[in-house]
Amino acid sequence: MSTQLSSPSHFTAAGALSLAALCLDADTAEALRDFAVSRGGLRPPLELHTYLLAPGDSLLASLEGERPDICLVDFDSDPAGAARAAARIHAELPDTDLIAISQDGHSQAILLAMRSGCGEYLSKPLAADELGQALERVRSRKRELGAARSGAQVLLFMGSKGGVGATALATQLGMHLAQHCHRRTLLADLQPVAGAAALYLGIAQPPYHFFDLADNANRLDQELLPSFLARHASGLDLLPGPESAIPPRLSTSAVLQTLDFLRGQYDFLLLDCPYGLDELNLELVRACQRLYLITVAELVALRNAARLLQLLAEKDVPREKTQVVLNRYAKRAAFADAQITRALKQELFRKIPNQYPQLLRALSAGDASALAGSELTRNLQAWAEMLAAPGAVDGARPGARGWLGRLSRTPASSRERMAA
Ligand SMILES: Nc1ncnc2c1ncn2[C@@H]1O[C@H](COP(=O)(O)OP(=O)(O)OP(=O)(O)O)[C@@H](O)[C@H]1O
Ligand SMILES: [Mg+2]
Repeated sequence: MSTQLSSPSHFTAAGALSLAALCLDADTAEALRDFAVSRGGLRPPLELHTYLLAPGDSLLASLEGERPDICLVDFDSDPAGAARAAARIHAELPDTDLIAISQDGHSQAILLAMRSGCGEYLSKPLAADELGQALERVRSRKRELGAARSGAQVLLFMGSKGGVGATALATQLGMHLAQHCHRRTLLADLQPVAGAAALYLGIAQPPYHFFDLADNANRLDQELLPSFLARHASGLDLLPGPESAIPPRLSTSAVLQTLDFLRGQYDFLLLDCPYGLDELNLELVRACQRLYLITVAELVALRNAARLLQLLAEKDVPREKTQVVLNRYAKRAAFADAQITRALKQELFRKIPNQYPQLLRALSAGDASALAGSELTRNLQAWAEMLAAPGAVDGARPGARGWLGRLSRTPASSRERMAA
């Protein structure tokens, strides 16, 4: 039976590596513990004193439910048993990196460890600098893998004025992406007050909202996230906005750190943002793949849309990143399409038909099936399918430094804002 000497803390800083150690001798175990305490970015190791497994035993149960980032395996007491355990971890937990530790420096011993899936081989006595270098190599491999996997397309929805349908379109499109296109999709309601996404999805207001999650950005990990999420029957995940009429205090850096993490968990991140280009919105616009500027054929909405496009150009946001969606489209509107495109100096990306009663039914029930067969559904489904097609959205992805990396170039004094 394995013994856990020190249990990993439940909440940990995002990016902290979790360690498991198999059959380390007493001196090596102590050296590892000291190392974990003295260096940042490591959880206390889960220490196990057997090579885990009889065939048929559950590997995860042997590891006490942990999927460690790194498993250190001491090969000295039973090299064959160590090799079998390492090979099984390698096969069943491919995200766990294996480090062999041994006093045997012969090539046969090294080969045995490498063949069983160990990517690093450290000699005893365990030297802190060698362990540090090995962990750094593992960390950078994980970072590269994470970057390759962190494929979420980030789509911003911004209405050119209140009530033009930004939230309605974001929720409906999110449902299509999740349900029909089978994409892992999250809608984050970034409205500081009166966000309606939960309401439109028919989800009872969950206890926490997006900005609560952002408040916990520095300890955000895969264990913490689910307690903040609400799931719609379509498979769409939601991080709702606050219910209170008092805007939360926002930290741009915390929001960006949160979104950086979320980007790694989903295929699509849909952000329902308030109108305007304050510091946070500008960062989001720069980092997203698409800004969908939702407008309607009304004077104020079009004036605001034109102003925003102008401002985006002044801020050097590439023009092709923003796509104008004309919502509640009707052939006999106050303004003809040609007048609208002239005023905006930009073509329309999509025209979404005006189907108020059907949409109202769908939004009130949180159920897109109320729209089944409608022109609106066909339109949104085509939009979702276009997005889900391979290589559909280009635009600047957040760079290797992530969104926070971008922020570190902006003056510290301007990082915080009070939503107003
Ligand atoms: N294509 C459409 N056809 C008919 N009605 C629509 C359409 N799109 C949205 N609406 C209606 O417009 C109203 C406002 O929609 P919504 O709340 O999504 O707007 P918003 O831009 O998010 O507003 P807010 O500024 O409050 O965030 C809702 O009643 C919605 O049903
Ligand atoms: Mg809205």
